[in-house]
Parts: sequence; C-alpha cells; structure tokens
Amino acid sequence: MYSIAIDGPAGAGKSTIAKTIAKKLEFIYVDTGAMYRAMALYFIRHEIDPKDEEAINKACPDIHVSINYEDGVQQVLLNGENVNGLIRTEEVGNMASKTSAYKMVRATLLDLQRDLAKTANILMDGRDIGTTILPNAEVKIFLTASAKTRASRRYLELTEKGEACDMDEILKDIVDRDERDMNRAVSPLKKAEDAVLVDSSEMGIDEVVESILSVYRKRVNG
Ligand code: DC
Repeated sequence: MYSIAIDGPAGAGKSTIAKTIAKKLEFIYVDTGAMYRAMALYFIRHEIDPKDEEAINKACPDIHVSINYEDGVQQVLLNGENVNGLIRTEEVGNMASKTSAYKMVRATLLDLQRDLAKTANILMDGRDIGTTILPNAEVKIFLTASAKTRASRRYLELTEKGEACDMDEILKDIVDRDERDMNRAVSPLKKAEDAVLVDSSEMGIDEVVESILSVYRKRVNG
C-alpha cells in the first residue's frame, strides 16, 4: 500500500493537483480539509463561538464525519447528511481554519484519516498529513505559492463563478488564514523534514503534476 501526502497553505492548488495525480496513479484522493469544513458547518449551525473551546469540546462527541465516493468524487457526510454542497463557502472555510486549531477537533478526525490509508493506495491532502497523520507516507510534498499568487487564483475562481469579490479582502483572508494555520499549537502547517518543497508560483498545473509524479516514480522505482 502506498500513500502520498500533500500539505500546503490555502490556495496553493493542492486539490486540483491532488485530484489529477490520484486519477493518473489510480489512487484514492482524500481531501481532509473537507472533513474540517464539515465540522465547521456543525459549529456554525449550532451557533457555537469559535473562540469558545469548552463549547467546541462539548460538541465534538456529537459530530460524526465520514466519507464515501460517488463516481470517484469524495462526498463528506456530517452525521449521515451529505454536506458536500454546503462546505465550500468562505464562511465555512474561515470557521474551519479557526476551529481546526483545537486538539479535540483534530482528535475527532485522526482515526478516520489514518484508517483510510490502511485500506488502499491513497493520496491525502491537508496541512499535517506528512507531519502527523501519515508520517510514513512514501512521498511527501509541501506545495506552496506566494500569498499574492494564491489570492489572484482565488479571485479568478470566484469571478468565474460570478461571485462579487474584492482582491484586497481575499489577500487579507489568505494572510490571516496562513497565520492561524502555521502558528497554532497543535499540528501546525509546516513542511515535514523529509517533504519535497514545490513552489507553484511560477508553474502551470501540468508542470506541478509532472514534478510530483517524478518524485513518486523515483521513490517507488528506487
Ligand atoms: O484545505 P481547506 O481550505 O479545505 O481547509 C480548511 C481549513 O481546515 C484550513 O484552514 C485548515 C484546516 N485543515 C487542517 O487544519 N488540517 C488539515 N489536514 C486540513 C485542513
């Protein structure tokens, strides 16, 4: 069984790249951010203040996240309800960034994430996959890009969807989220010592995919 871990900040292109590589290698793609987003949706629905760790801890035992696949696409279930269509908003993303800092929240998802890697060849993306979840992954990639590049990609994505947005606000959001993800006490976003750093600021999708595939081929073929 092989596993590939791809970590990196918001907007580095992890999910696009990860999906493409998983398809090419016929690995199962696991998006762990979606699991934190599902938990965040629960906190939003129950009007739990993200600063109130006690309330978050109290809620965690009532939250059951699971995943399944429909036509190869990961679906996230929150207490049995498919919430895939509800978790991609900025509101949920920001809530996930805040609440994923708590130990209890991370512990709620740990076994689910680790167990997935026991059943199949997987490519998992997130923030702490190479450092905490799958420390023995055969391939570890830290995929990043400058905050400016990530903000312009996000801006393009939102305008293409017809959503009104402001470049300065998006950039501020990205910088704030990096700050939270990298500086939290539990499982902060950081490059694992044995991860290969890929900076996609000046690279196209195909180039990034090819560079990661070549790391994989070298590891597997020796
Ligand atoms: O990748 P994403 O934007 O969907 O993730 C949403 C938030 O979840 C992100 O700001 C930090 C958190 N997260 C995490 O702490 N650990 C992971 N493995 C994946 C996501």
